[in-house]
Amino acid sequence: MSHKILSKEQLSENVFTAEIEAALVARARKPGQFVIISLNNEYAERIPLTIADADAEKGTIRLIWQRVGKTTAELADLKEGDEIANVAGPLGKPTHIENFGIVACVGGGIGNAPLLPIAKALKQAGNKVCSILGARNKELLILEDEFARLSDELIITTDDGSYGRKALVTEPLEELCKSEKKPNQVFAIGPAIMMKFCCAVTKRYNIPTQVSLNTIMVDGTGMCGGCRIEFDGQPKFVCVDGPEFDGHKVNFDLMMKRLGAYKDLEQKAHEKYQKHRCKIGLDKT
Ligand code: FAD
Ligand code: FES
Ligand code: MG
Repeated sequence: MSHKILSKEQLSENVFTAEIEAALVARARKPGQFVIISLNNEYAERIPLTIADADAEKGTIRLIWQRVGKTTAELADLKEGDEIANVAGPLGKPTHIENFGIVACVGGGIGNAPLLPIAKALKQAGNKVCSILGARNKELLILEDEFARLSDELIITTDDGSYGRKALVTEPLEELCKSEKKPNQVFAIGPAIMMKFCCAVTKRYNIPTQVSLNTIMVDGTGMCGGCRIEFDGQPKFVCVDGPEFDGHKVNFDLMMKRLGAYKDLEQKAHEKYQKHRCKIGLDKT
């Protein structure tokens, strides 16, 4: 069964969002879960994307993605009314939500997308939510308005100081940990390096920290081993054991090494797609 794109919007130069028909997923999904999509039935690769939001009554899910390579570029080239061949899910374990008291939700770059449904659910559960959102620059910051609506406090940082505070997210996070508003629980989602350093901060202050890991995935059912990580010295599969883990026990260095394993092939596939889209004139639309 294919899935129609009902609406699509560009959030920044390389970030897009779309509302997609997927009734069964919309009804069953919980915050923290994701889908694996493939764009056609012939040769398309499978990529995981977080379910950023869902409307169970309408039978739709919202995806937010960053154009980083071939498949996310192909997805960005689809238009309203086009169809995605396969949307499998909801996959992964839902986030454990409870009233922790004060929670800090720390997002980096496209990590704000998977963080959004979690932060919403934490707010609904009665938590005081302090959100810290970081981006390389103002143009790359996404979902500020959504986070402003749900957060008791919102801190924005940019690497170049073009908006908010000129800092990495770890700076305000550490200040918060030292203050009387010390969080009881932290959620950090973003590039592996950012999650690694957020966890180094919260470990010093003994604050439990959940991270959502963005390893390479293929089947999403625990069979292929593509998403294997080392957790507390043991192998775990992000697709079925995660995607969320206690960040203080994740071997981030090994994860980062595995993330880059197919860089050359990914780059070639992206270049080939760019040439093809030039030829068929997609870049003029
Ligand atoms: P490529 O050029 O093929 O790859 C670019 C980089 O993306 C790679 O170096 C690798 O680090 C990563 N990647 C490549 N293939 C895969 C794959 N099959 N699975 C996972 N990562 C891959 N991105 C978003 O923009 N929005 C989201 O909501 C989102 N949610 C995710 C949820 C989970 C559970 C995981 C594991 C990843 C999520 N990602 C999300 C990352 C997204 O899947 C990758 O950016 C995407 O697969 C890149 O595909 P590509 O062909 O465009 O890029
Ligand atoms: Fe294959 Fe997790 S994606 S084991
Ligand atoms: Mg790819």
